[in-house]
Amino acid sequence: MTESGVSHRIVADLLRARTGQQLTEGRRWRIGTALSGIYRQRGISGVDQLVGLLTEPGSDELAREVVEALLNNETYFYRDRGMFEQLGQRVLPDLAARRASGKRLRIWSAGCSTGQEVYTLAMVLAEQPERWRGWDIEILGTDVSQRAVDAARRARYTQFEIQRGLGVGQMLQWFRETEHGWEPHPKLKAMVRFERRNLLDPVERPGWYDLILCRNVLLYFDCTTRALAFRRLDEAMADNGWLMLGAGETVVGRTGRFEPVDGNQGLCRRRDEAVGETLAMPRRAIVRTG
Ligand SMILES: C[S@@+](CC[C@H](N)C(=O)[O-])C[C@H]1O[C@@H](n2cnc3c(N)ncnc32)[C@H](O)[C@@H]1O
Repeated sequence: MTESGVSHRIVADLLRARTGQQLTEGRRWRIGTALSGIYRQRGISGVDQLVGLLTEPGSDELAREVVEALLNNETYFYRDRGMFEQLGQRVLPDLAARRASGKRLRIWSAGCSTGQEVYTLAMVLAEQPERWRGWDIEILGTDVSQRAVDAARRARYTQFEIQRGLGVGQMLQWFRETEHGWEPHPKLKAMVRFERRNLLDPVERPGWYDLILCRNVLLYFDCTTRALAFRRLDEAMADNGWLMLGAGETVVGRTGRFEPVDGNQGLCRRRDEAVGETLAMPRRAIVRTG
């Protein structure tokens, strides 16, 4: 391997160690493009010099910047609109019925990037005011990227970002244009919360979430890391909860913990719950495979 090849591998290893994201050899060409801003700002000539700097004491800030720059934060409002329609028509009515006695709903978007997914969830719920009147609703967005979480909290979207996925009606109903960009209605902002969190870390509140979205995050985990991620999602989920992956993602062949619902690839339930609600065996007694 050339010196640059070794340096690229070291950078890829750093990303994997901090986030679980894998940059296979075929995708390592991305490193130069993604880090060009850091090279320019810091006067770094290329990946070999970068790796030299990363081995020096006090380089943690540089390492953080490198990891942030390598993460893929691509997102937009109502990404895969059909899945959000399923959410509104199927998942939320189910949860509204199941949780009616406590009137509490807990939603977690794991890998929420700059917040569009979380504000989409808030819009879906806010557009069903009758159903949710008097409910205690928590929508938490987390991401391993501090930069993404800061942007989600600021919630100032450019004209380009606001038009991606949102129709004009929804844009004008739920956002207002300010000198800083398009900002969500205070009602939406009051419904959501953001935190920096690695989804591979031990779960803070086991069995808490009724609905978990983990969309377009697991794609670049290797098998072992993906299995750990599914374990974390399983641990965090309340009984009878729902899991929503990206439209092109599936649990089939990837984990024994969840099953797709009705062949809908991205929408899943725990295996035992997908098989049948009347299963006699307590959920925690079922042996899981990965
Ligand atoms: C491609 S974006 C997807 C955003 C959104 N879920 C969507 O589908 O539009 C993937 C996000 O996952 C985050 N991510 C990657 N690895 C993560 C990890 N281990 N824990 C939490 N977030 C992670 C990235 O920082 C990025 O913001």
